[in-house]
Amino acid sequence: MRTNSIDSAAAALQAGYLCAIPTETVYGLAADATNPTAIARVFEAKGRPSDHPLIVHIADGAYLGEWIRDIPEWALSLTKKFWPGPLTIVGRRTDAALNVVTGGQDTVAVRVPQHPVALELLRNLYSAGVPGLVAPSANRFGHVSPTSAEHVLADLGDYLSAHDDLVLDGGLCSVGVESTIVLALDHTPVILRPGAVSSADIESFTGTPIGHMRAETPRVSGALDSHYAPRAKVLLVSESELHNFVTHSGVGLIARDDVVTPPQCVRLLAANTNEDYARELYASMRHADELGLETILVVAPSGDDVAIAINDRLKRAAF
Ligand code: TXA
Ligand code: MG
Repeated sequence: MRTNSIDSAAAALQAGYLCAIPTETVYGLAADATNPTAIARVFEAKGRPSDHPLIVHIADGAYLGEWIRDIPEWALSLTKKFWPGPLTIVGRRTDAALNVVTGGQDTVAVRVPQHPVALELLRNLYSAGVPGLVAPSANRFGHVSPTSAEHVLADLGDYLSAHDDLVLDGGLCSVGVESTIVLALDHTPVILRPGAVSSADIESFTGTPIGHMRAETPRVSGALDSHYAPRAKVLLVSESELHNFVTHSGVGLIARDDVVTPPQCVRLLAANTNEDYARELYASMRHADELGLETILVVAPSGDDVAIAINDRLKRAAF
């Protein structure tokens, strides 16, 4: 079931099987974006409500027009700047985007991932007549996203092996949190989910202030109050509060490396930079569950970079 072969992955996807794929953000559970039967199995495997839309992954920004029409100029230039990379654009869909992909909405989400294995796979499939792959994060719905093939197997291994599906192993993900999702319907960029491409990046690159979410803003399951959650209870604390906690053997700590570990606490993450924090965050939460810890104390990072995405995920993990 686990493979390093891009050819095997491409063949399986063309034949309608699922294949978990590495991307630079997190692993995705991929299916042919034009195959409704395969896509239905993605929802089944994840236990995800079927009205939650999926991101279409494509090989090259040049193919964006196959999926999104009337794209604003600022959004097109964003894709030219940040693709391949951790940026997803939501725009008005073309007929290529199936209802099972969009959740029946009139918009579709598209991105070009940066992982070399994913890109080669997408290019091979495009030449073979598969224009894109849907790929939600390859975890059970509501759980922590996977940043390694082992994480995928831990969540979905039983389901995937029972159906002869594959996991394409591309090593550890380099970014570690899901892509930034930007709504591109008019002249104002709206961030639906923060990621490694920050709002500061987008504002300075487009020269346009970021708009706010409106009531009619499309639904994003990653925006549910509780999501990205490990089994252990996540408690967000400040560095000064931390040392007032009476810690005991069932408690772990996630923080930057300048935060001192309280007595008896298991150090789960000690990141030197916010990028390291993002890359290792989900693995450290999964590690807490493997150790059977009851509680994870988290000192969130600060900054206007990927720290904003980390804080967003931590808030939902703690909810
Ligand atoms: O980094 C990522 O984006 C990863 C990797 C695998 O590419 N994928 C990912 O997919 O995080 P998923 O399905 O776990 O999260 C995609 C988010 C969901 O919250 C979904 O609601 C939102 O994108 N989304 C998809 N299509 C949308 C649309 N048309 N309008 C608004 N939100 C949409
Ligand atoms: Mg997800």
